[in-house]
Amino acid sequence: MHNGTTITQFIIEEQRHIDNATGDFTSLLNDVVTACKVISNAVNHGALIDVLGSAESENIQGETQKKLDIISNDIFLKSNEWSGHVAAMASEEMEDVYQIPSQYPRGKYLLVFDPLDGSSNIDVNVSVGTIFSILRCPEGIENPTAEDFLQPGSKQVCAGYALYGPSSMMVLTTGNGVNGFTLDQNIGEFILTHGAMSIPEDTQEFAVNASNMRFWEAPLKRYIEECLAGSEGPRGRDFNMRWIASMVAEVHRILTRGGVFMYPVDSKMKAKGLEGKLRLLYEANPMSMIIEQAGGMSSTGRERIMDIEPSDLHQRVPVILGSRNEVQRAIDYHLRDDAESAA
Ligand code: AHG
Ligand code: MN
Ligand code: MN
Repeated sequence: MHNGTTITQFIIEEQRHIDNATGDFTSLLNDVVTACKVISNAVNHGALIDVLGSAESENIQGETQKKLDIISNDIFLKSNEWSGHVAAMASEEMEDVYQIPSQYPRGKYLLVFDPLDGSSNIDVNVSVGTIFSILRCPEGIENPTAEDFLQPGSKQVCAGYALYGPSSMMVLTTGNGVNGFTLDQNIGEFILTHGAMSIPEDTQEFAVNASNMRFWEAPLKRYIEECLAGSEGPRGRDFNMRWIASMVAEVHRILTRGGVFMYPVDSKMKAKGLEGKLRLLYEANPMSMIIEQAGGMSSTGRERIMDIEPSDLHQRVPVILGSRNEVQRAIDYHLRDDAESAA
């Protein structure tokens, strides 16, 4: 018998401190939690229920979809369309905004998500996750369009992720710190296990896909080269490197023991007219809110991610996030390099 705090209890108690809270947000979050439990169950059963492998289709980003990308997207839509709390949804796997079917009432929130993050890891049984962000639907909008989703990250009401790893976890923030919950599979509840998560200011661990190094901009190259030079280099200490290729898993590691995660823009992307790999609305913004709420920092190298005014539902941005002193150093290198190039 557990005697911990369930995620539902935690959310209800948190909402009690908010004036005029109607319970809508609490119910919405409950449905998001249910969706993540269903996805966790599918991921967990894997080959037993024939959900691994490719779906032989492409999403709007030109990426081949995995069966589980599509299954997870459907689970999220079905879990959230009926409740009357959501006005519309958008996701990595859908080109356009998903309208609430006409038989259901519309609510006051917009839900944006990456249904399965790190899905290249699914077939090799390495951690994957789900990322979500909740925005308010602008006043007076009956039928939200993509434009209504184009709000800066600083406007998020809530951001969170579910991690499907050795344990399934849910980590979330409503702007009042970050808390982590572990799924007790026997009772089907997420239980508070990681209260008030906070990121150490300093770290000796970085995460980057170093195979792209030759395409990077000079300031990022400088930052990583100095880390690699270790105790003999200008940093005077050795660094450790990790790359899981699941942003959820990297962010979770950083929330647990510190670190810096980088997915920079590079010349290969620029040649295709792209400004980064990770998507602003359903990857960079929610993760930035969680990182900042845990005392870390999140930037493109040149500006705070949550200050960006989005211009497209699937817009991509460079991402540098994690322990604040390292993120600040990377920003300093970018700004100094820009100033020198302008001089
Ligand atoms: P997704 O599976 O939702 O498309 O996201 C994958 C992202 C992110 O989670 C990860 O950090 C990065 O792409 C991995 O990219 P590389 O394969 O280029 O390393
Ligand atoms: Mn992703
Ligand atoms: Mn994805």
